[in-house]
Amino acid sequence: MGCLSSNLTKRRLVLLLSLLLHLNPSLAYSLKNCNIEYSQDPLADVVLDCVQHKVVTVPDDIPRDVSSVKLDNNLIEQINRKDFGNLSKLRFLGLNFNYIAHIDDESFIHLTSLTILHMHFNKLTKLTGNLFRGLSNLTMLDLGLNEIQFIHKSAFSFLPSLQTVILYNNKLQQAADIQPVLQLPHLQKLVIGSNLFTSFHTKDLLLNVPSGLQVLDISYNVKLENFSITTPIFPHLEMIDFSGCGEHTGLNWDIPDKNLLRNIIQLYFNLALIPFKDFQKVLESLDSLMHLRLNNMEKLITKGLLATVCKIPTLRRLELYYNHDANLSAKLVTCSQLSDLDLSTTHMTELSNGSIRSMQRLRSLNLEVNFLTNVPGEIRSLSSLTILNLSDNLLSTLGCEDFMNMKHLTHLDLSKNRIATLDGCAFENLNDLKVLDLSDNLLWTFGDAFKTGPPMLEFLDLSKNFVSLLERGDFQGLGSLTYLDVVSKKIGRVKHKAFEGLMNLGNLRVSLPLEYENNFRELQQLENLTVYFNTDGIFKSPLENDHKSFYHLKSLKVFTLICEGYHFGFPFDVPMYMFQAMKHLEGFTADNVYIAAPDRNTFQYNPQLKNLTIRETDLSDLDPELFLPIPNLQVLDLSYSKLSSLDFLAEADLYELRHLTLTNNELTVINETVFHYLPALIYLDLDNNPFICDCSNAGFIQWVKSNNQTQVVNTYKYMCSFPVAEQGNKLLDFDIQSCWMDYGFLCFITSTCLVVLTLLSSFIYHFLRWQLAYAFHLFLAFLYDSRKRRKGAPHRYDAFISYNVHDEDWVYREMLPVLEGEQGWTLCLHHRDFQPGKPIIENITDAIYSSRKTICVISRHYLQSEWCSREIQMASFRLFDEQKDVLILLFLEEIPARQLSPYYRMRKLVKRRTYLSWPQAGQHTGVFWQNVRRALETGDAPTETTDPLTGPAGC
Ligand SMILES: *[C@@H]1O[C@H](CO)[C@@H](O)[C@H](O)[C@H]1NC(C)=O
Ligand SMILES: *[C@@H]1O[C@H](CO)[C@@H](O)[C@H](O)[C@H]1NC(C)=O
Ligand SMILES: *[C@@H]1O[C@H](CO)[C@@H](O)[C@H](O)[C@H]1NC(C)=O
Ligand SMILES: *[C@@H]1O[C@H](CO)[C@@H](O)[C@H](O)[C@H]1NC(C)=O
Repeated sequence: MGCLSSNLTKRRLVLLLSLLLHLNPSLAYSLKNCNIEYSQDPLADVVLDCVQHKVVTVPDDIPRDVSSVKLDNNLIEQINRKDFGNLSKLRFLGLNFNYIAHIDDESFIHLTSLTILHMHFNKLTKLTGNLFRGLSNLTMLDLGLNEIQFIHKSAFSFLPSLQTVILYNNKLQQAADIQPVLQLPHLQKLVIGSNLFTSFHTKDLLLNVPSGLQVLDISYNVKLENFSITTPIFPHLEMIDFSGCGEHTGLNWDIPDKNLLRNIIQLYFNLALIPFKDFQKVLESLDSLMHLRLNNMEKLITKGLLATVCKIPTLRRLELYYNHDANLSAKLVTCSQLSDLDLSTTHMTELSNGSIRSMQRLRSLNLEVNFLTNVPGEIRSLSSLTILNLSDNLLSTLGCEDFMNMKHLTHLDLSKNRIATLDGCAFENLNDLKVLDLSDNLLWTFGDAFKTGPPMLEFLDLSKNFVSLLERGDFQGLGSLTYLDVVSKKIGRVKHKAFEGLMNLGNLRVSLPLEYENNFRELQQLENLTVYFNTDGIFKSPLENDHKSFYHLKSLKVFTLICEGYHFGFPFDVPMYMFQAMKHLEGFTADNVYIAAPDRNTFQYNPQLKNLTIRETDLSDLDPELFLPIPNLQVLDLSYSKLSSLDFLAEADLYELRHLTLTNNELTVINETVFHYLPALIYLDLDNNPFICDCSNAGFIQWVKSNNQTQVVNTYKYMCSFPVAEQGNKLLDFDIQSCWMDYGFLCFITSTCLVVLTLLSSFIYHFLRWQLAYAFHLFLAFLYDSRKRRKGAPHRYDAFISYNVHDEDWVYREMLPVLEGEQGWTLCLHHRDFQPGKPIIENITDAIYSSRKTICVISRHYLQSEWCSREIQMASFRLFDEQKDVLILLFLEEIPARQLSPYYRMRKLVKRRTYLSWPQAGQHTGVFWQNVRRALETGDAPTETTDPLTGPAGC
C-alpha cells in the first residue's frame, strides 16, 4: 500500500517536472487551415504548412515565431497590408500557384528577415514602386509564370541583398524593362526566359556601374531576333542560357568584341535557329567555354556542328540529349578532350566503332534512356571512367568483358533493363566500385556475381527483381557493403547464412517468406533492418520460433516489420526475447504483423525506444503497461488499429511523447482529460475516425480550439459520422455553445437568485431595519467593551438589575431592601440610575459594563419586552466575550421550557447555566437571598458546574 502511494507520488512528480520542462507555449496549437510541421528537434525552426488547403486569404492565425510559411497551391487572390504584419522571423515564404493579382504596397514591410520569396504561377501584371519595401534581407525572388508587363523603376530599390531574380514566363518586352533589376548591387542570377523580348541590346541599358551578373537565362524568348552585347556591362557573366531562342525566327548575334564574353564558361542551346556560320563564329570566339549543352539541334549537327564543337580546346562537358540521331556518336570522334558526356535520350542502339574510345579523359558517361542491347564494346577501354549510367536500356545479359577495364569505375547504374542473368565474373574487375544499381531487372538469382566482390562496394540495390531464393554465401564477397536492398515480391526461400560475409552491413531491406530459416547472426553491424513478409495473398501461418532470427542483432537501431497479406499471427511466443539483444533500439515499426496487442513485456529490454509504430493490428485490448519500460518514447503511431478509447494513455506514463498518430481508428468520443497525461505532446493526428458530433465531444472540441500546446493537425477535415443528422458536417463546426445549455440554465438560476437576494435585502432593510440598528449597536458594544477593558476601569455597581416595568413593584419591595439594605450591594436600576438625555441603548451598555454582574429578573412580561431580551443578549455577549460569568438569571415565575423556546437565546442560556427561581423558594426567602448573595460574591470565572440552586433543568 505504501509502495503504491509512493509510486503514485513519484509519477506525479515526474509529470510535474516534465510539464515544467516541456512547456513551450509558442510552438504549437491547432490552426484553422494549416499544420505546423513536426520536427524531432524541439529547437528546430517552425515551419507552417498550408499547401493545398483551399485557403482564400492569408490565414490570420499564423504564429508569430514561424520561420517558414508554405501557402502554395491555394486560392489566394490578393495580399493585404496587414496579412504579414509582425512575422519578423519569417525567412521563407511560398505563395506559388495561387491567383494573386494584387498586392497592397508595403505588404511585406515587416518581413525584415525574409530571404526567399516564391510567387510563381500567379496573376501579377505590374510591380509597383513600394511593393517590396522592407525586404532588406531578401536574396531570392521568384516571380515566374505571372503576367508582369511593367516594373516600376524603384520596385527593386528596397532589395539591397537580392541575388537571384526569376521573371521567367511573363510579358516583358524590352531590355529596358529589366533595368531596375540590373541595378541591384548584388545581382548574380537573372532569369528572363519565356518573355516577349524581340531584341536584347545592351546599349539600351544605362547602368552607372557594371552589373555583377553571372548567370543570364534568356531561354525560350521565341520572338528574340537580335541579341547584342556591345557595351561592357556584364564583365562577370559566366553563363548564358539561350535554349529555345529564335526558335521560330532565327537569332542574330552581335558581339563584335569577343573580350566582352571572355568569362563565359557555360552555354545552353536548345532548338535554336541560328545560322550555322554565326554559330560557328560565336563558338570559336569563346576562349573559356567548358560546358556546352546542345539539345534538339539535329539540324545543325547534321551540318557538322560537332566538328566545330570538338575543336574548342577548353571544352570538358558536352550534353547532347534529345538529339534523335542514331549516328550521333560517330560525330564525336575528335572530342578527345571531354571528361563528361551526356548522350541520354538520343534513340541510340549502339555506339559506333571508334567514336568515343579516344576520350581517354572521360570520367562520366550518361547513356540513359536509349535502345542499347549490350554494354557497348566502345566503352570497354575507357579506363578513366568513374560514373557510367546505362539505366533504362534493353540490356539482357552482362558478360565477363563488359566492364573489364573500368578499373576506376565507382558508380554503375544498370537499373530498368532486362538483365536476367549475371556472369560470375561480370563485376570482377571493378575494384573501385562503390555504388551498383541493378534494381528493376529480370534477375531470379545472383549466381556467383557477389561471391568474390566487388570488394569496395558500399551500396547495392537489387530490388524489383524476381529473386525467389537467397543461398548461403550469396553476398560473401561484399565485405564493404553498408546498404543492401533485396526486396523481392517473389521470394520463396532465404537459406541459412544467406548474409554471411556482410560484416559492415548497416542497412538491410529484405523480403522473407513466412517459412524463413535464416538467422541474422552474422550481421553484427546492422543498424537498420526492414523486413517484408510475403504471404502471396493467401492465409498462412508462420513457423514457430521464427523470431529467433532476430536474437543476435545487437546493433539494431531501427527495426521495421511489414507484412503484406493475410496471416494468422506471428508466434513471437516469448515476445521480449525477440528484442532482448537490441539494447540500442530506437525505432520499431510493426505493420500488419501483430494480430492483437503485443504482450506487455515486449519492450522490456529496449529503454531507448523513441519511435513506435504498430499499425493494422487489433489494439482494442491494449495494455498500458506495454509502455512502462519505454519512457523515452517520442513518436507513437497506432493507426488502423481498432482503438475505440484513449483511456490507456492515462496509465502509460508517456511523459516524453511529442508526436501521436491515431488515424483510421474507431474513436467516436475523445475525453480530452487524457491529454493531461501527455505533457510533451505537440502533434496529434486523429484523421479518419468516426467522430460523434454531439455534446459528448464538446470538451474535446473546446480543447482542440483553445489549448496552446498541442497542435491537432488537419482538424478542419474531421467529419461527423454520428448522429445521422450531422453526417457530412465537420466536427469543428459543431455548435458546442448549445452544450453549455445546462450551464446556461445554471446561469439563469444564479442570476434569478441574485435578483431575489437583492429584493430580499431591500425588504429586510425596510422591515427589519430596527434589528439591523441593534446589531450595529451590539457591534458598538463590542468596541466599547474593548476600550473599557483596555482602560481596566473599576466597576461602579455590583449589579445591574434588568427587569420589566411590570415587575418593578417586586424589585422595589422585595429585592432592593434585601440586596441594598441587608447585604449592602450597590445596584444599578434603570429608572433610578440611567442618565437622562442619553440614548437608552448607550445607557444600557454603560450600565452593563460598569456593573460586575447583571441580574435578569425574568417574568413573562420580561421575555416579551424587547428591551430586556436585548439586555440579556448584551450581557451574554459580554459573558462570551470576556469569558466572565456576569449573568445571574432570576426567575420570578415558573416558565415551562416550551414557552421559552421563542426566546432561543434565553433557552440556550438556561440550558447551559444554573439559575435562581423565586416561586420555588416558596417560604424560604432567606435561603433564596443567600443564594443571590453567593452568586453576586462569586468570582468572575464562569461557573458552569456550581449549582447555586436547584431548579428545573431547562429542557
Ligand atoms: C539580415 O541578414 C544579415 C546577414 O545574413 C543578418 O545579420 C541580419 O540579422 C538580418 N537582418 C534581419 C532583420 O534579420
Ligand atoms: C539507418 O537509417 C537512418 C535513416 O532512417 C540513417 O540516417 C542511418 O544512417 C542508417 N544507418 C545505417 C548504418 O545505414
Ligand atoms: C522517428 O520519427 C520521426 C518523425 O517521423 C523521424 O523524423 C525520425 O527519423 C524517427 N527516428 C527513428 C529512430 O526512427
Ligand atoms: C474523462 O476522464 C476522466 C479521468 O481521466 C474522468 O474522471 C472523467 O469522468 C472522464 N469524462 C468523461 C466525460 O467520461
